[in-house]
Amino acid sequence: MERTFLMLKPDAVQRGLVGRIVAKLEDKGFKLVGMKFIQVDRALAEAHYAEHKGKGFFEPTVAYIMSSPVVAMVWQGKNVVALARELMGATNPANANPGSIRGKYGMDISRNVIHGSDSVASAEREIALYFKPEELVDYTKAGEDWLSE
Ligand code: GTP
Ligand code: MG
Repeated sequence: MERTFLMLKPDAVQRGLVGRIVAKLEDKGFKLVGMKFIQVDRALAEAHYAEHKGKGFFEPTVAYIMSSPVVAMVWQGKNVVALARELMGATNPANANPGSIRGKYGMDISRNVIHGSDSVASAEREIALYFKPEELVDYTKAGEDWLSE
């Protein structure tokens, strides 16, 4: 089953939004298979945003994800990469659907509350950056038979 890497960024932690955002992901039907509360160091932050190296927003974005602890998570489900991006909303919260996580909780592109992998290949790369294989839990969740064929 497909997996994605989602992170509740420093502003979500500092603003006390962790529970409300996790609830939205659970409500959708995604299955949590990995979760940790960590302080991201510079090496990890730069590896995470490597695709943006050289752009003007690279350094502020790296500094932002190092500025407070974050919640790193792996969620599983049918088509979860694209569905999670849909639930998150546009990168700039000013353009995000008001029903989306970024639309509901954010105002500024540099404080957009949540990260989500943008493709299955990115998800694999990001999961490997943040989690060891043995930190991902394989289990049966009540009700999962009712979510997809
Ligand atoms: P993530 O899920 O955080 O990766 O966001 P994304 O995939 O929607 O956007 P992208 O990977 O293109 O950019 C990564 C992060 O860099 C974004 O979440 C923003 O916080 C920041 N960012 C991207 N583009 C800009 C920009 O034009 N200006 C500023 N200030 N920040 C940007
Ligand atoms: Mg991205």
